Amino acid sequence: MRIGIIGAGNVGIGIAKRLIAKGHCAMLSFSLDMQRLSTTAASLRARVGTVSEAVEFGDVIVLAVPWSVVDEALSQAGSAPPQRILWDCTNALKPDLSGLAIGTDTSGGEEVARLAPWATVVKAIPPFAQMLHSSSMRIGDQRTDVFVCGDDDPARAVVCRLVREIDAQPVDAGPLSLARYAEPAAMLLVQLAYSRHWGPRIGMSVLRGDPAEGPRHGV
Ligand SMILES: NC(=O)c1ccc[n+]([C@@H]2O[C@H](COP(=O)([O-])OP(=O)(O)OC[C@H]3O[C@@H](n4cnc5c(N)ncnc54)[C@H](OP(=O)(O)O)[C@@H]3O)[C@@H](O)[C@H]2O)c1
Repeated sequence: MRIGIIGAGNVGIGIAKRLIAKGHCAMLSFSLDMQRLSTTAASLRARVGTVSEAVEFGDVIVLAVPWSVVDEALSQAGSAPPQRILWDCTNALKPDLSGLAIGTDTSGGEEVARLAPWATVVKAIPPFAQMLHSSSMRIGDQRTDVFVCGDDDPARAVVCRLVREIDAQPVDAGPLSLARYAEPAAMLLVQLAYSRHWGPRIGMSVLRGDPAEGPRHGV
């Protein structure tokens, strides 16, 4: 698959490295220092281009920029970008990182869909970059869950596959509107990692039983 990356920082490069290792091709884009981006791209055997070139190139486009520049990054997608799956990895953080700038009556994912009408947006916030760049994505022998939210079933399936390929565990959560709740869950992990000092090697795991084994009269 061809993967266009918008924002080749900690997350963008972490995902690119892992997907290139699985045989995918990547194009990196969006940097204040295109020379450094070219050097990084060469070291990964990835291509480098503008945002619009990355959107043109990719079957899937990974959006991995700070929330404050999402609008600016997407506005560089060109005047008539082709229809693409947009894997939104962003946390909609306030500028001072103290909390979420958006939610829970909407979500960052839905805002991205509004800003990129050309895109089929799938929200899936990956594990911490420190895990993406480490030798193992596992905690013990377990993969960490990644909620995958999007309104298009085939697009969600594609992102679930990519999440599995970075060695995380996709949780197919259904519609994009469920990002309203998945995004705060990711923020909880940020708080535990940095405010509670648990560190970034943490993740979630959803336990799921057989609904047929629920209480006879419901709850
Ligand atoms: N870090 C994590 O563990 C983690 C985990 C899950 C989700 N996220 C979310 O993923 C997103 C990316 O996080 P990150 O940690 O990868 O961020 P990052 O390391 O700061 O990378 C951001 C990228 O965006 C580019 N960029 C920023 N402002 C720009 C501008 N005005 N013009 C052009 N390029 C610009 C930077 O390019 P240059 O520096 O080359 O200019 C860099 O490549 C964020 O929304 C974050 O909340 C992060």
